[in-house]
Amino acid sequence: VVGGVFFDPSLRTRVSMEAACARLGAHFVDLRPGEGSWALELRDGVPMDGAAPEHVREAARVLSRYADLLAVRSFPAGRDPEEDRREEVLRAFARHATVPVLSLESAMGHPCQGLADLMILRELAGGDLAGKPVCLTWAPHPKSLPQAVPLSVVRMAAVGGAELRVACPEGWDLDEEVMARAREMAAERGGRVVVHRDPDAAAAGAIAVYAKAWGPDRRAPSAAAARSELPRLDYWRVDARRMRLTMGRKGAFLHCLPVRRGVVVDDEVLEGPWSRVTDQAACREFVQAALLLSWLL
Ligand code: CP
Repeated sequence: VVGGVFFDPSLRTRVSMEAACARLGAHFVDLRPGEGSWALELRDGVPMDGAAPEHVREAARVLSRYADLLAVRSFPAGRDPEEDRREEVLRAFARHATVPVLSLESAMGHPCQGLADLMILRELAGGDLAGKPVCLTWAPHPKSLPQAVPLSVVRMAAVGGAELRVACPEGWDLDEEVMARAREMAAERGGRVVVHRDPDAAAAGAIAVYAKAWGPDRRAPSAAAARSELPRLDYWRVDARRMRLTMGRKGAFLHCLPVRRGVVVDDEVLEGPWSRVTDQAACREFVQAALLLSWLL
């Protein structure tokens, strides 16, 4: 029994986990705290006289008696970067559960998405990603999104030894600790991680352009200031012209989904020969099934 605990919405993660469990003969329980199961208090030592009738301590301990694995999705609150980095929801489950806890995305990573991305990047590279150019490009978005997905892309591209080109405007740099570790890991595997300010240069000759919106880094202006800059950053939206700069003009377009058409990427790209986003999403089920098997066997 896999206990899925979703604090935030999901299409791919929820259904691919459920499908992987079904194919392996496991049962997936889909809990949404506050919507059909009790809202959870996460803070310790506070009188529980607010909206949440159950504490995460009891919830994690009790769920551990029914489920063999807990799988938790919790997006960052976005109030304070340091608070987000502490990943209190995921860590509270890890602390109080007596069974393994799997992250289905938190503030600093989306490991199952990262595994699926590594799978499709290896396919695109013909099996061996080492030394192959991959462009991870920042994209405009009306909301200031977490860095979880791009940080997992960086980690997994480094594991595969890719030449990863991270393209982003100044002020939107990715978490420096993760980048530094990825540079070391990539170097050990024949790859490297470089930052570009020009998305065209980063896309040139790449086997894939992976687009993702993420919020400004902690040293940059506030999210509101960043949003006000978005119109001038429209040229970061991925279009057919940029895709034609890729390897043999036929590099793949990747995105973890959901994606905002006409904001992050043009319809022409998603409907064109470049798009592999559906194949990428399909990889989620396979890597998660493999993850469950590796843990069971
Ligand atoms: N890529 C991804 O995690 O999709 P969902 O948010 O729909 O689960």
